Amino acid sequence: MKTARRTATLGASATVAITSRAKALVAEGVDLVTLSAGEPDFAAPGFVLDATVEALRAGHTSYAPVGGVPALRDAVAERFTRDYGVPFTRDQVIVTVGGKEALYDLFQVLVDPGDEVIVPAPYWVSYPTQIAMAGGRAVTVPCDASRGHALDIEALKAALTTRTVGVVLNSPNNPSGAVYDAESLGALADLAVQHDLWIISDDIYSAIRYDDTPFTSILHVRPELRERVFIVHGVAKTWAMTGFRVGFLAGSRVVLGRCMAVQSQTITSATTFAQHGALAAITGDDAFLGPWLAAYDARRRLVHAALEAMPGVRCALPSGAFYAFPDMRGLLDKRHRGDLVGNDRHLAELLLERAHVAVVPGSAFGSPGFLRLSYACATDRLALGLERIAAFVAELS
Ligand SMILES: Cc1ncc(COP(=O)(O)O)c(C=O)c1O
Repeated sequence: MKTARRTATLGASATVAITSRAKALVAEGVDLVTLSAGEPDFAAPGFVLDATVEALRAGHTSYAPVGGVPALRDAVAERFTRDYGVPFTRDQVIVTVGGKEALYDLFQVLVDPGDEVIVPAPYWVSYPTQIAMAGGRAVTVPCDASRGHALDIEALKAALTTRTVGVVLNSPNNPSGAVYDAESLGALADLAVQHDLWIISDDIYSAIRYDDTPFTSILHVRPELRERVFIVHGVAKTWAMTGFRVGFLAGSRVVLGRCMAVQSQTITSATTFAQHGALAAITGDDAFLGPWLAAYDARRRLVHAALEAMPGVRCALPSGAFYAFPDMRGLLDKRHRGDLVGNDRHLAELLLERAHVAVVPGSAFGSPGFLRLSYACATDRLALGLERIAAFVAELS
């Protein structure tokens, strides 16, 4: 029997693949330190759980309207109006099944076969694949580690062609932890106007920042661009609600209308009672976040100091999100127990199988030679994982 070519080469995301192998090792009884997960290790706030259970008991168990529960759309519009300094109304916001579905719908609506979308690297793993699923091509533009993975506007400019339809932004960035500044966003805004481009701004980590680093959106810098800017957000990271699968998409009413048509033919809506939990989250008190950020911050410093102390490893101190993205290129020509390390994928494999630490190879994010370590895990496990990596590195010859 036949299957379609469309998904023949579509693999599971690299993070999911590592997680599966890690789970298999744990099932075999291995005491594995998992630094590969992209989700907070905290439990969702109690008031969110209460609101979700109440929603179930109150009978919010049937289909929600396409585009989301109206009260949630209103609340997101209100919150975005406050956070972005640009007025949003209900029809400029839809609720999606996580930020992932917001991105998927957008690429389906914006990208024709042969169109190009610029994706600064390192990038979150799903952008290029989702663009390809829409028939388009992701044109990746490296953002150099030596410049803190800041947006490279000259390189972006050089990557533009007549087929470019948009640019994806992700700040704070997964995996680099970089936070984009107003100047580079302003320069990008100019390019967007000159070349008539969409800007897809994935702000899912906007609340997770350190050292008073401000969050600057392209909308803060150039609010008049609002018709060409989409904001992708959700409850997964800030509120530790990854399993709720609730995301938000804000932007042009016309494009959102098309996204809702996609939703009506695919998902109908995000899970109704989960949307009520999300409503409690985004209208509730953010006080829970302070202690979480303090914990992430302490771990960020721990992971940074430990990596910098390893010979051949360089690591920038991340400004946001909960990942460190060390440059391991200094280790790639070395051997571990006689086996050549060679590249980041093999390095991640060796760390998993021999040091029992799960990390994600940088090539999955478009940056070969790097590794991504998540510090959204218990501090003692993180410390143990770092000790194991240090011992592995010390064994290289
Ligand atoms: C940069 C980025 N965007 C979007 C998502 C998707 O988030 P959600 O769980 O809301 O689908 C993730 C999740 O890892 C992410 O890291």
